[in-house]
This record gives sequence, structure tokens and C-alpha cells, in this order.
Amino acid sequence: MKVAIKGMGFYVPEEVVTNFDLEKILDTSDAWIVERTGIRERRRAKDTELTSDLAVNASKMAIKNAGIDPTDIDFIICATASPDYLFPSTGCIVGTKLGLGGVPAVDIAAGCTGFIYALSIAHGLLATGNLKNVLVVGAEELFKIVDPEDRSTYVLFGDGAGAAILGLSEDDSGILGWELRADGGYGELLMLPARGVALPLNQETIEKKLHYVKMKGNEIFKLAVRCMGDVSLSLLKKLGMNSSQLDWIVPHQANIRIIQALAKRLDVPMERVIVNVDKYGNTSAASIPIAICEAIEEGKIKKGDVVLLVAFGAGLTWGAMVLRI
Ligand code: ACO
Repeated sequence: MKVAIKGMGFYVPEEVVTNFDLEKILDTSDAWIVERTGIRERRRAKDTELTSDLAVNASKMAIKNAGIDPTDIDFIICATASPDYLFPSTGCIVGTKLGLGGVPAVDIAAGCTGFIYALSIAHGLLATGNLKNVLVVGAEELFKIVDPEDRSTYVLFGDGAGAAILGLSEDDSGILGWELRADGGYGELLMLPARGVALPLNQETIEKKLHYVKMKGNEIFKLAVRCMGDVSLSLLKKLGMNSSQLDWIVPHQANIRIIQALAKRLDVPMERVIVNVDKYGNTSAASIPIAICEAIEEGKIKKGDVVLLVAFGAGLTWGAMVLRI
């Protein structure tokens, strides 16, 4: 029996930060950001609003749309690169905030590929037949971990969360296959150097701004285009499919130029690619569930559609999944 998404939800904070807002604090321009990234605005969480709070809001909507009771959830997987704390895990905090103390919960640290990793792990758990409903949530507050004085990263990221309830399929919907990859040899291209045990947070690491995201954007760009194309084509081949059988591609929303290059490589017109990077920027592990959920709400993705999810992120990690909605 297949494992399917039974309901989805998303949540973005109220505050909208436009490129024009960023022009006032950084040596940048709306024209540069739009041309190089496609981003026009992004959302920013309040200081008092935590990643777990965004996750809980998205999860409540997913629970409602799945038509289940929160107590029907058997397992929680939270994908995030911006957890509330190093530990306890954000998954545990989300469980408690949902009133689900006692339900197993865990975080997945796979950067922007986190949601696809989490879906794949939920797929495996449900396939054992021991669980009925798994909550998978991608949630990020990247504004709090990027350097407000670094124009090369600060303009790219945003805050948000997206969630899905997965369970055994009752019709022909479900996950058709997935392929995941990782290569830690490229880890330094996108990292948050301090805060862990390698470089603990202290006066020196703070002065050197090592507690903020460091990224070699150009190299990431080239690898993202190549790896997302490779893994998508490899998965389609494994499934005996070609890209003309896909109704939609939902790529990680990092940069419109990466998305366009991917669509070209897969020979899929942009009309069949979901894009919302203009509104939310790069929300890392939250970007794919926000994009799917919003596209369902807008009536673009419909029941029965075959969708390719594909992402690339810190680790480096990358991966793809094909599912019927
Ligand atoms: N405003 C104005 N100028 C800027 C800005 C800015 N916000 N940021 C950089 N520049 C300048 C640079 O300083 C550089 O100036 P110089 O030529 O005088 O040195 C110039 O613009 C060109 O910089 P590049 O880095 O070569 O610009 P590029 O076209 O590569 O665009 C970008 C940079 C947007 C970061 C691009 O490389 C990119 O999107 N890379 C992928 C990043 C990404 O997607 N990361 C996340 C993926 S994984 C994940 O999602 C976690």
C-alpha cells in the first residue's frame, strides 16, 4: 500500500520585508535582487515568535486539512536548519505545543533538502505498518541566523513553515519514489560555523561573525543546477517515467535562475513549475511544503496530479521525490 499526503498546511509571519526595505539598510537595490534572484519580498518572524511556533501554526492547518485529530499523530519529524535550540529538538517542542507529549519526535538537519528527507523517512516508517499518521513539518527562521550587514546572504532568506500529514493511501495517491544524496565534502560552501562544538559561541567567534550563515553563492549556484537536474533525471529513469508525465515540478525556492535552469534541463515549461520565491525568498526546509500547499489552495495542483519535488541545500544534501497528490 502506498504512503500519501493526507493534508497540508503552511504559515508565514505577518511582517513583509520588501527589497525596498533592504535598500534602506544595505548597499543593495530592488533591481539587483530581482534580476539575480527573482525575490521581491520575504516574511520575518517577531523576536518572540520561535521556529516551533511557526511549525505549530502550519501543523494545525495540516491536521485540519487531513481531517484527523491531533491525537491521531504517531510520530513527528521536524526539518529545520534554524531550530529553537541545539537541543531539545524543535520536533519535541512542536509535539508539546500541540499537546502531544509522549509522541516520538525528532529533528532532521538536511538544510533546504530537509523536507524531502523528512518525507522519505516518514515513508519508511509508515511502510512498516506500525504507524498511522506522521506529521512532517519544515520550519525556519533564517532572519535570525543571517548577518544583517552581509548583503550577499541577508537579501536571500525568509521565515516560514509548511507541514504535511502522511498516512497510508486509500486511493491511487501516494509517494511513487525518491532519491536522496549527500556529500559533506562540500559542507564549507554553506555553513553556520559557530554555535556547535567545533567553534563554540564566544566573544571571538561573535566578533568574527561566525555565528551567521556563510555561503559561497556562486559555487552553490552551479552545484544546485547540476545536482537537482541529475537527481531528478535519475529518479525519473528509476521510475520508468519521463518529465512529460509530470503535471508539476515543485523545486526548492532559492533563486528563480536556478529554477529556470532546472526546468530547461528537465525540458519542462515554466508554466508547469511552481514558483513563489518572489513572495517568500528562500525559506530552506519550509520552501517546498509552503509552495505545494499554496499551489493546492490556488487550485493549481489538483488531486491526482503527479508532482516532482526537488531540493538542494546545506550538507551538501540534495534529493527528489515523485508523488501523486
Ligand atoms: N546587492 C547588490 N550587489 C550584491 C549583492 C546584493 N544583495 N550581493 C552580492 N552583490 C555583489 C557582489 O558583491 C559582487 O560584486 P563584485 O563583482 O563587485 O565583487 C556582485 O554582486 C556579483 O556577485 P556574485 O556572487 O557573483 O553574484 P551572483 O550572480 O552569483 O548572485 C547569488 C549571487 C544571488 C547569491 C547567487 O550566487 C545565488 O543565488 N547562489 C545560490 C545561493 C543559494 O541558492 N543558496 C541557497 C541554496 S541552498 C539553500 O537553499 C540553503
